Amino acid sequence: MSVVIKSPDELERMRQSGRINAEVRAVLHDAVRPGVTGLELDAIARREIAARGAEPTFPGYAPGGRPPYPGAICFSVNEELVHGIPGDRVLREGDIVSIDLGVTYRGFVSDAAFTVAVGGASSRAEHLMRTTEAALESGIHAARAGARIGDIAHAIGSCANGYGIIAEYGGHGVGRKMHEEPHVPNRGLPGRGLRLKPGMVLALEPMFCSGRPATKELADRWTVVMEDGGLSAHFEETVAITDDEPEVFTRIA
Ligand code: MF3
Ligand code: CO
Repeated sequence: MSVVIKSPDELERMRQSGRINAEVRAVLHDAVRPGVTGLELDAIARREIAARGAEPTFPGYAPGGRPPYPGAICFSVNEELVHGIPGDRVLREGDIVSIDLGVTYRGFVSDAAFTVAVGGASSRAEHLMRTTEAALESGIHAARAGARIGDIAHAIGSCANGYGIIAEYGGHGVGRKMHEEPHVPNRGLPGRGLRLKPGMVLALEPMFCSGRPATKELADRWTVVMEDGGLSAHFEETVAITDDEPEVFTRIA
């Protein structure tokens, strides 16, 4: 099960983790420009996280016999969908890049991502990004006590507007660890799946693509790319179910 926030102290730590995540993502967002590399942005992320008394969650993460993840961020350019490893690849005008960041603060993990154009994007890429972002908003809106995981999945999937929905990856419980139960698919049937309760924390992360929604993993065992080389976009926030409106931890209010 996902972490369930049980005390004001736990809520405060989760909020702090999310706020740090938001602040560091804002710095990274500003640093994206032609000529910059993933490794340079990774160094900025490490410095900004440390300066706030937190730790990057991703380094050393090694699920299911994978090599330990080397980065503090995931850096996925154009046809790369998610989990791209920051390296020497230089961003160029017109690229779109997804940057995913995990922050651990006093035992609480926040996970969030955005996709942004480098310089100007084509109107096609821009439309794909705005559609994916709107789907995240719709998923957040559906994340309410009494609703079910399938309601979130349906809310996200209904926003795809003809884009491909990646089925192999999705959102997840988060909080004490980066990946907790339940899995949150990006398409599904309303009324199905686990019922949402106040205090549950979920990372919602729609991923849409312009071509066929088939992916493959590269030999590094991490980078996931679109099989047809098409564009993809990815947005993620860490959200709590409450008695009232969902609380988005990874956004600066
Ligand atoms: N938001 C990504 C996910 O949930 C974070 C992956 S981090 C990595 O899959 F370390 F696994 F790359
Ligand atoms: Co995630």
